[in-house]
Amino acid sequence: PKRERPVIAIDGPAGAGKSTLAAHLARRFGFLNLETGAMYRALALKAIENDYGFDEEAPLLSLASNTRITLEPQLEGNRVLLDGTDVSRRIREQDVTSAASQISIHPQLRAWMVHQQRALGAKGGVVMEGRDIGTAVFPDAEVKIFLDAAPEVRGNRRYRQAAPVEHPTDRQNAARQAPDPQTIEQKRLAEAAIIAELKERDHRDRTRVESPLQPAADAIILDSTAMSLNEVLAAAEAIVRSHLPA
Ligand code: DC
Repeated sequence: PKRERPVIAIDGPAGAGKSTLAAHLARRFGFLNLETGAMYRALALKAIENDYGFDEEAPLLSLASNTRITLEPQLEGNRVLLDGTDVSRRIREQDVTSAASQISIHPQLRAWMVHQQRALGAKGGVVMEGRDIGTAVFPDAEVKIFLDAAPEVRGNRRYRQAAPVEHPTDRQNAARQAPDPQTIEQKRLAEAAIIAELKERDHRDRTRVESPLQPAADAIILDSTAMSLNEVLAAAEAIVRSHLPA
């Protein structure tokens, strides 16, 4: 039976701005936003906490079969419950980020995830965001957007997100003093580390055998390298409107 409401699939590499876009579109159109990456992250966290390796599929699969992962869509992003415990913040840390990418190469584990994701979106009215939504989870999605950007730009955005907010007084002080060369070097190194980590994760996500990250044949590719956030949101909104019945 055909679902009553549409599915909007948002795929793309890490740091492209998928979550921000998904949350925005969900608000605009009154849909639920579902971050599938959070499910891989939650299982990765459980693997870390229970000293599981990331390379062997069978133990991870049996771990998964005893795991309950719940996504609670909010205005901004998802609240994530792992066996009833809120892990929303913990799963964003670096060790979990890397582990999620590593466990996501396993085909049967992916099938377990995809099965649940299809159930979550079965009625439609969702913006689902991840790596394989348009290719594997909902190949029949009404709208497919592949959000991309150059790795340096994605890394720079991530870096600025994480950087402490600068106060006007800091800037006034900074204007009076010459910038500290050591601080500049530290910032450059921190940003380079984020870019290197993104590239490593992209490479793993793009080259895995099962459902590698790639645009669906019928996806609309939105490259945000030279676009502001507002331009991306407006462009995506226009794409969605043009695909949905009035
Ligand atoms: O979107 P994210 O950064 O939270 O995703 C974390 C990892 O999970 C990502 O590096 C690869 C994996 N992932 C996936 O394989 N398929 C998805 N649909 C979503 C995430």
